[in-house]
Amino acid sequence: MTTPKYKIDSFEEYNKEYKRSIENPIEFWDDIANDFTWHKKWDTTYESDFSKAKTQWFIGGKLNITENCIDRHLTEKGEQAAIIFEPNNPNDPNQIITYNQLHKRVCEFANVLVNKGIKKGDRICIYMGMIPELAIAVLACARIGAIHSVIFGGFSAKSIADRVNDAEANCIITCDAANRGNKTIPLKSVVDEALTECSTVETVLVYNHLNTKIQMKEGRDHDWVKTVTEVVESRNSDFPAVSMDSEDPLFILYTSGSTGKPKGVVHSTAGYMVWANYTFVNVFQYQEGQTHFCTADIGWITGHSYIIYGPLSAGATTLMFEGIPTWPDAGRFWEITDKYSVDILYTAPTAIRSLMTFGDAPISEKNLDTLKVLGTVGEPINEEAWQWYKGKIGHGEVPIVDTWWQTETGGILISNLAGITPEKPTFATLPLPGVQPALMDENGNELIGNDVSGNLCIKFPWPGMIRTTYGDHDRCLDTYFSAYPDKYFTGDGCLRDENGFYRITGRVDDVLNVSGHRIGTAELENAINMHPNVVESAIIGYPHDIKGQGIYAYVIHIGEQDQETIKKEILGYVTQHIGPIAKPDKIQIVSGLPKTRSGKIMRRILRKIAEGEFQNIGDTSTLLNPEIVDDIINGRI
Ligand code: WTA
Repeated sequence: MTTPKYKIDSFEEYNKEYKRSIENPIEFWDDIANDFTWHKKWDTTYESDFSKAKTQWFIGGKLNITENCIDRHLTEKGEQAAIIFEPNNPNDPNQIITYNQLHKRVCEFANVLVNKGIKKGDRICIYMGMIPELAIAVLACARIGAIHSVIFGGFSAKSIADRVNDAEANCIITCDAANRGNKTIPLKSVVDEALTECSTVETVLVYNHLNTKIQMKEGRDHDWVKTVTEVVESRNSDFPAVSMDSEDPLFILYTSGSTGKPKGVVHSTAGYMVWANYTFVNVFQYQEGQTHFCTADIGWITGHSYIIYGPLSAGATTLMFEGIPTWPDAGRFWEITDKYSVDILYTAPTAIRSLMTFGDAPISEKNLDTLKVLGTVGEPINEEAWQWYKGKIGHGEVPIVDTWWQTETGGILISNLAGITPEKPTFATLPLPGVQPALMDENGNELIGNDVSGNLCIKFPWPGMIRTTYGDHDRCLDTYFSAYPDKYFTGDGCLRDENGFYRITGRVDDVLNVSGHRIGTAELENAINMHPNVVESAIIGYPHDIKGQGIYAYVIHIGEQDQETIKKEILGYVTQHIGPIAKPDKIQIVSGLPKTRSGKIMRRILRKIAEGEFQNIGDTSTLLNPEIVDDIINGRI
């Protein structure tokens, strides 16, 4: 594949393309989609009705995304690295997987899946560490048309069970254990525990990564390597990709919202593919032969779109890193960058802030001179972190793209294009072609003109957008398309400056963004309330130097134990019901929560207290229990 003709290479061209995407979206997207490999081209470019939360793209088309991510590169790039795997422990062997090898391994594993009776449309959960087999499993599912649902390795057995049951998955792919810094995470035993609560799973495929001791259940559990060997002996190891409709679901990814349990965001095949590719090529200004290092985990959307589907569909070399930024030392990202001559580095503000605290020593001996583009994602980046990233990692010269998007959007919606459109610290800047943002005021009116701020909506469909929430379309409609008629509501607050640049200011709903991970306050409160001695709880976010937001839990507890024991037990409940990523940073035991006369918790007051702003608490006279406010202030942590 040569450089795609839809790659934008000047600000002027961006303006032209943006205009064309608005004035003539059909022609605009037809031109782009024509560059991909199809079994049959589409009949209709798009149809959309936001009032029903219904959008379709490239209707009537037939394709398989893995042919676009692998097969079409084989003639020219068969021997080029598709995936570089850098293990957690720098002394362990790395792996370079060429496009030819990736093709072979995906086909072999696709044969395994089919051999185990897995069919197009089946749901498969994947719970693995960041090893190449995770990418292979994802691509093998896509090759046979099964819908993958990757579950982040930090989630608990209970969270896995909820996701498996919601999707009625018939197969789980896992590995014995994964490395994470100096810890070993026993993934298979977590799956075993989850499966005591799941009745739909018939097959468990286990990759032996670390040779740890695990239980294998006869008939249900199968060793990855053994099954591959058996299949290769008995069948041809090639696997012709299954023909999918453009709108067939490609994957489900669960994400937290402001209410209830996480919802399964469903993405389509063709629209998602086009969006992941178009945004990868343009935002990062990918050039032929470059190595892209996205530090996210494939358990999150960033890993789906910018470790797997975006880079591979563009024929890039994508780098998968198993470890954490600070182990064995805080120079790990920079060492990897030099080792593999990384061109594009894409990470999260929380990682940057954490690495800043180690000072210059971890960077001092590093070259970092192959870097052409730096990127951030997941949360607002503060100016200090942006300047550090630019100065220390980018030698003051390398462009930084601040990419705003969400699990539901499939790929980046608002971002500068590296070195092409202007960058401005703390601003995601301008919408990509095809993206039409709208800022809404509290009365539901769209704010026109510049220098305004409001709730961020998108008022026109784009190919990569969410199609439904798995098993419950009304939830998709209610969550995203009901707050403002005919608009997709993002849940984020946003301002547009005097030049029309966008700056995301954070969530306006009850969702926290902790180290770039979305945590629903309701979900976390539910987990804490499971404790038999907890009467009620309220979760609030507060500014945290490294994590962006920290989690402050106010808990009413009726028990005799000492505070330390209670807190330990609460953390245990959170770890068990959600996972360690949702553990509160601070827990304050209180005798009551400030409530309105109708019984609603006054979160505004709790937020002020958590932020240490006692002077500006505001009027408390309308509370049912105003006296509680002083008690809470006095007991603040
Ligand atoms: C936040 C991650 C500011 C935002 C891709 C959004 C950001 C949520 C940015 C989605 C950014 C993401 N600047 N905030 N560049 N990128 N966010 O679904 O609040 O894990 O709604 O997707 O992260 O998180 P999610």
